[in-house]
Amino acid sequence: MQTNIINGREVAAALQQEVAREVEAIRVRDGSAPKLAVILVGEDPASQIYVRNKSRMCGKLGILQDTILLPDTATTGQVMQKVEELNRDKSVNGILVQLPLPGQIDENKVTQSIDPLKDVDGFHIANAGKLLMGIDGEFVSCTAEGIMELIRRTGYDLDGAVCAVIGRSSTVGRPVSMMLQRQNATVIMCHSHTRNLKELLRQADVVVSAVGKPDLIDGSMIKEGALIIDAGISRVGGHLAGDVDMQSCMGRAGYITPVPGGVGPMTIIMLMKNCLKAYYLQQQMQAGQ
Ligand code: GUN
Repeated sequence: MQTNIINGREVAAALQQEVAREVEAIRVRDGSAPKLAVILVGEDPASQIYVRNKSRMCGKLGILQDTILLPDTATTGQVMQKVEELNRDKSVNGILVQLPLPGQIDENKVTQSIDPLKDVDGFHIANAGKLLMGIDGEFVSCTAEGIMELIRRTGYDLDGAVCAVIGRSSTVGRPVSMMLQRQNATVIMCHSHTRNLKELLRQADVVVSAVGKPDLIDGSMIKEGALIIDAGISRVGGHLAGDVDMQSCMGRAGYITPVPGGVGPMTIIMLMKNCLKAYYLQQQMQAGQ
């Protein structure tokens, strides 16, 4: 069997062009542009890289961006105060607090203090709850949305398909499982306590893995022709590794995403799309007032 490699970089590049065109149209029409504010607390090197990448992508697409740096000694109250300032700031459309936060900060309190209409990460319960209840909402997790976009573009019919989602994080596993169910897939949620992962995986037409354990899955564990989405990221000896041993899946999987170059590039472009959405939402709100 021929395995198709899903090129996330190519899909993301096409979406970048679409977003850049839309931002330019806004600039011509409104004389303004969407603006994202990113709060980075402390000096975690991985977070610094992620924030820099987001900032560069904003610059590339014409989205305005502000990075607010807070010291790693900041308190929950201080971060929330900054969020509330940004909630009130009419020039800011999207707010993102880079996770993880230093241990002394209550992450839930901070993410729940973001105005749901500016919550471009989709972490606020008003947005996550709508996804759970099957109500069309404003924002969903960028990685989950990116995964769904990659699956959509393969043309794979999810109706009735058995999908194994590995990992129950609120950023990837849980939202993606809800989105797959909305497409009429039968979803098997697997996690660290799952006893018979191998047996469950063998039944799966689609596998979405978001754990962060290199080589968790190999070719002998998957169903012939399966669509494999690898959203795991680990650092192994200076390289990035996914959850899937891609080599052993070649010739057995129908489709597979590489790491890097699969799901990763999709997350950031979905964030940019959410910034556009936030801009339109706030334009509507202001027009209605
Ligand atoms: N840290 C790692 N991934 C994410 C993400 O999607 N959003 C935020 N805010 N922080 C992250």
